[in-house]
Order: sequence, then structure tokens, then C-alpha cells
Amino acid sequence: MTELAYLAAGVLFIVGLKGLTSPTTARRGNRLAALGMLLAVIVVVVDLIVDDVAAAWAVVIAGLIVGGAIGFILATRVQMTDMPQLVAAFNGFGGGASALVASAAIVAAGSGVATETAVVTVLSLVIGAVTLSGSFVAFGKLQGIIAGRPISPPGGTATNGVIAALTVIAGIAAVATGEDVWYWVAGGLALVLGVSAVMPIGGADMPVVISLLNSLSGVAAAMAGFVIGNQALIVGGALVGAAGFILTVEMSVAMNRSLANILFSGFGGAPVSDDIGTKPVKRATADDAAIALAYADKVAVVPGYGLAVAQAQHAVKDLASALEERGIDVYYAIHPVAGRMPGHMNVLLAEADVPYDQLYDLDQANPQLTQTDVVLVLGANDVINPSAKDDPDSPIYGMPILDVDEATTTIVVKRSLSPGFAGIDNPLFYEDGTLMYFADAKQALEETLSAVERL
Ligand code: TAP
Repeated sequence: MTELAYLAAGVLFIVGLKGLTSPTTARRGNRLAALGMLLAVIVVVVDLIVDDVAAAWAVVIAGLIVGGAIGFILATRVQMTDMPQLVAAFNGFGGGASALVASAAIVAAGSGVATETAVVTVLSLVIGAVTLSGSFVAFGKLQGIIAGRPISPPGGTATNGVIAALTVIAGIAAVATGEDVWYWVAGGLALVLGVSAVMPIGGADMPVVISLLNSLSGVAAAMAGFVIGNQALIVGGALVGAAGFILTVEMSVAMNRSLANILFSGFGGAPVSDDIGTKPVKRATADDAAIALAYADKVAVVPGYGLAVAQAQHAVKDLASALEERGIDVYYAIHPVAGRMPGHMNVLLAEADVPYDQLYDLDQANPQLTQTDVVLVLGANDVINPSAKDDPDSPIYGMPILDVDEATTTIVVKRSLSPGFAGIDNPLFYEDGTLMYFADAKQALEETLSAVERL
């Protein structure tokens, strides 16, 4: 019965994951995967009750109530822009849990465990410990508790290489000798490695790092599953490990950067160039924007990080509805790395009930942009920077972008000429067909809507 229930949980995880591939089925997918996890947890508790391990099940149920309550409160209270931090914390706890399972197995087993058990135990301990400390550094950077800029350890990347090598050596010694002390040395070094590997990574690259740590938390859980012979943990851990890694690679590809560059280059620490913002631009007011939009046939909205900062998702939906009432065709062009986390823009727009069929991804949007009259850019910058196509010296050269310069008019809403995440100037702002509307995105949208209604 236990194995069958674990199999059912595994199936629910997989069907749930499949559901996450489309916005229309994502909520259901999430619920199914959560149901699978609930089933697995119930089986563990029932097993303990059947085996009459009274003290154990009482502790497990108490843990479930306290942990479940904390998770519920955190998840319901967190702001959408703080979601990456929450995921970082969850990953950290996941890694920590796997390291604790391994630690308990080490204490319980004493010496003389089979080599394969020793290998998975040390892997669960080491990977779990790296994930635990690395995730909390990532959390601290995003939360502003630790400086977001890259901070290298003395000796730079080489120091991390040495700590990693020492961790591996201690792990091998643990397996070879079976002595507890080597496990604790390997686990301790892994905790140090998590901190020293994540500190040199810039705050803005954290989403990619969090995705990688998410993958590692899955691998640690799968190893812990082998340690205690729990199939649901092995299946769930393997799925998280694979899904997290695929997402990490996808994000790197969409930024046109290698994973090694993200992990080791200290991107985001370079000083911003001085001449940004000194060249002349064409300025626009709410009335200018309203006239351009209200007399267009086809309008594209390009949301970016600034839309999330301004929490302007409802305001953009209101303006789009007003334009649609005037018979204007409105669609949203979504770049895969717009914002600061995967699916950031989709989540925001879904919150405002923007219909899914109006959301175009990069490949769908680019051919449409040539036939679009007005593009309204809301707090996006790097994802529309033509240097990615034209300037081989640009740090973002080669990154696929939304070709907004193909449209007749582009209205860019942002507060200043400040650069975005990549810290570079954007030649689009100085082009003839571009109007700069300097304002907070939400305020600009509200003012433009009033101006459209007055027309
Ligand atoms: P960015 O290039 O970061 O630009 C955002 C712009 O928003 C800024 O230039 C800022 O200009 C403006 N802004 C900030 N607050 C605003 C507000 N309240 N109202 C209006 N504008 C506001 O954003 P993007 O185009 O979305 O590009 C995302 C970048 O993040 C890419 O370089 C990508 O590689 C990187 N990245 C993304 C991810 C994922 S998964 N999405 C992960 C890691 C890194 P002002 O200060 O002048 O207003």
C-alpha cells in the first residue's frame, strides 16, 4: 500500500509538472503536485502510526502543523516582487532538510554501512548543506540584508575551487573510512562553499542562481530518498533536480550568457557609464501618448521590470480595455527574461486577468511588431536594447530582443534615462521614432487613460 501510494504521488508530481507548461493549466498543475506531496506526507505519518512509533508520529504531526502554518502565512503574505526570496528560502529549507536526514542516518548507522549507502549519505549531506547556506545568501542579497554587488572571497574563484576540492576529499574520506568525523568535515566545508560561491554573484543574477540551487535541493532530496529508502522522495527530488536545471539553462540561453559566466564573472558590478542620459531625447506627455494610442489600429504593450516595481498590472489592463473599446487591437509582447524571475510578466498580467491569448512570446511578437503602429514600453529596457543586435562590444550582444524599433512609434515609459539590469545605455531612446515619457509606470498609465477618455 505504501509503495502504491508513493507511485500515485509520483504520478501526481509528473502530471502537475506537465500542467505548469501552460498558463491555462498551471494552477491545476500546482494543486495536483501539492496533492501528491500531501499524499506522500500522509503515507509517512500513517506508516509511523501503523508501526506504532508513538513518539515519532507525534513529533512529525507537530512539525507538520508548525511548518505548514509558517509556509501558509509566508506564501499568502509575500508580495509578488518578493517571490524570488521566498523560493530561495524554501530551497534553503529543502537542502537543510536533506542534510538533516543524512546527518540522522550518520548518527544512527555508526560505522560499517554499505559503500553505496555511504555515498548517497555524503552526497545528500554535502549538496544539502551547499544549498542551505547558498540559498540563504541568495535570500539575503535579494532582501537587501547582504550587499547585492558581487563580493569575492580572498583569492577569488581559486579559493572556491580549493574549498570544493577539500569538500570532495573529505567526502571520499568519509566513504572510505566510515568515520563520522569526515562526514562532519565534508558537511562543514559544504556550508562554507555555499556562502563563498554565492557571495561573488551579483544580486540581479540571483534568479538564475536560485533556479540552480532549486535544482540542487532536488538532487539532495533524491539522495536523501536513497538514504532512507523513500520512493516518493527519490521521484520528487529527481523531478525538481531536472526541472530546476532545465530552467537554469533556459534562463542563461535567453540572456545569451553561459552558466559559467553567470556563476563566475561577477556581472552587475561594473560601474555605469557616465554619458548615459546626457544625449537629447523626444519627450512625451500623457496627452501625446493618448493621441498616439487612441488613433492607432494595432498597439503592442511591452512590460518589463519597471511594471513590476510600479505594480502597474491593473492600470495597464484598464488602459488596454479602454483602447479595445475604441476598436484597437492590443497585444502584449513578453520577453522570456523580462523582469527578474521566470514568468514574472505572465504572473503579473494574469493577476490583472489579462487574457492569455493576448500574451505573445518573443517568436510570436517579433513578426507582429513590423505591422504595429504604437509600442508602449512599460519599465522595460534591456529586452528592447538594439545594441544586442548591432554592437558586438555590448555586454548583451547576441541576446534575442523584442524588435520594437520595427513599429511606427515607440513610447517608452520609465522614470529617467537610468539603465536597467545590464547597466548599459539604450540607443533606442534617442531614435527618431521613440518618445520618452518620464514617469512611474502606474502613474503614467492612469494619466494616459484619463487623457484617452477625454478624447
Ligand atoms: P531592465 O532592463 O532591468 O530595466 C528596467 C527599467 O525599469 C529600468 O531602466 C528602470 O528605469 C525602469 N523602472 C524601474 N522602476 C520603474 C517604475 N516604477 N516605473 C517605470 N519604470 C521603472 O528590465 P527588463 O527590460 O525587464 O530586462 C530584464 C533584465 O533582467 C534583463 O537584462 C535580464 O537579462 C535580467 N534578468 C532577468 C531574469 C529573469 S528570469 N526575468 C533573471 C535575471 C536577470 P528608471 O529607473 O529610469 O525608471
